[in-house]
Amino acid sequence: MFNSKIYVDRRNHLKKQIGSGLILFLGNSEAPMNYSDNGYRFRQDSTFLYYFGLDFPDFAALIDVDENKEIIFGNDFSLDDTVWMGPQPTVKKRAAKSGIQSTANLDQLFTMCGNAVKQGRKIHFIPQYRHDNILMIHKLLGLAPKRVNEYASTKLIKAVAEQRYIKSKEELDEIEKAIEISYAMQTTAMRFAKPGMYEREVAGFIEGLALSLGNGLAFPTIFSRHGETLHNHYHGNRLKDGDLVVNDSGAETVMHYAGDITRTFPVSGKFTPQQKEIYELVLISQLTAISEIKPGRNFKDVHLKTATVIAEGLKAFGFMKGNIKTAVEAGAHALFFPHGLGHLMGLDVHDMENFGENNFGYDEKTKRSTQFGLKYLRFARPLVPGIVLTVEPGIYFIPQLIDKWQGEKKFTEFINYKKVNQYRSFGGIRIEDDIVVTKKGCRVLGKPIPKAVEDVEAVASDKI
Ligand code: GLY
Ligand code: MN
Repeated sequence: MFNSKIYVDRRNHLKKQIGSGLILFLGNSEAPMNYSDNGYRFRQDSTFLYYFGLDFPDFAALIDVDENKEIIFGNDFSLDDTVWMGPQPTVKKRAAKSGIQSTANLDQLFTMCGNAVKQGRKIHFIPQYRHDNILMIHKLLGLAPKRVNEYASTKLIKAVAEQRYIKSKEELDEIEKAIEISYAMQTTAMRFAKPGMYEREVAGFIEGLALSLGNGLAFPTIFSRHGETLHNHYHGNRLKDGDLVVNDSGAETVMHYAGDITRTFPVSGKFTPQQKEIYELVLISQLTAISEIKPGRNFKDVHLKTATVIAEGLKAFGFMKGNIKTAVEAGAHALFFPHGLGHLMGLDVHDMENFGENNFGYDEKTKRSTQFGLKYLRFARPLVPGIVLTVEPGIYFIPQLIDKWQGEKKFTEFINYKKVNQYRSFGGIRIEDDIVVTKKGCRVLGKPIPKAVEDVEAVASDKI
């Protein structure tokens, strides 16, 4: 945990923003894998961690803004619990670490919420993504389970999002610790992967690093010779000489801050000339995106600038043709680059995605596009110092998408399908780093992870 003052200050700031009423925060419970005592790895809710830092199941908190009272709810261990799981500090002792003296049994949360409902007091809560917490809100506030999230407080969502959005020095240090683990995961994968291995052998090996150096994975590893599938969680293919592998992976720290890095490398240690050509285009587009990031700049414009670099390069190689400005406006480049340039990152790998991206990734001036490709951009607002984003362009050859567009004669004025079809089995390339926006531009977080062709080749040839 951070020092208790950090949590006290965060809550004081939030109370000022909310002004009146009650704020209800639910922590997470254990999630059963196949029966209740056999759970998935426990993961606390990130907003609960942000305001209270208490990383234990079955906690909740109520902030009475009008009375300036803060209460942590949880049940102390019974003797039976202690026999099975060892002695634990009391809820009171734990709450004190986040600067809260007032604690109560979970039953009392029902009484207090019930009274507040009867008195017609406003109870703010954020959207819930776990079914047990949806049911908890249903029981606490009497809302129909399927309508619970309709009653989430927009005022609270916006206040929490604006606060979590800007990372403090101690948060950036945590994120850099997570990226340090990524360094090990990425370089080890390059050195460990060999033709003949199954993808799972490498994915499992680096997952072990995430567990031994941090708190395990921040998200399920994408490690695949089929990098053209953007979120490929299947690890059952056998690697072959000549394959390119996309490794999009990251750990979270013990404090639960994430890292999210992608590197693409040749299994055998050497890019083919065709692979090198496309790889260098992705790299140039990523470096351009990083150089374009600065306060006041709209992230959507950085995305479109990156798409233009990709499309111009693809035109030079003969995959695209025509006027590139018009092609990018029309979305023709999305055949090759069908996702957004990046997303916020912090306590969640896609930070605060549970609040609904449109609630804070977009604003009045920047509406979400409905165009294929651009609609997947998770964050589009003007950039401000202190926000952390991933920058992750890619080029992919997706046979099903190629066939669909070609069958529809889509964008034939911009796409040379004959040339594209020669690359049907190419796969995909993505390069991703994590940055923080600074006063004048941005800083790539963590120590540099090899990404220039010769650096990747040097590491990927140095097998273990
Ligand atoms: N690392 C996976 C993603 O950004 O969606
Ligand atoms: Mn990412």
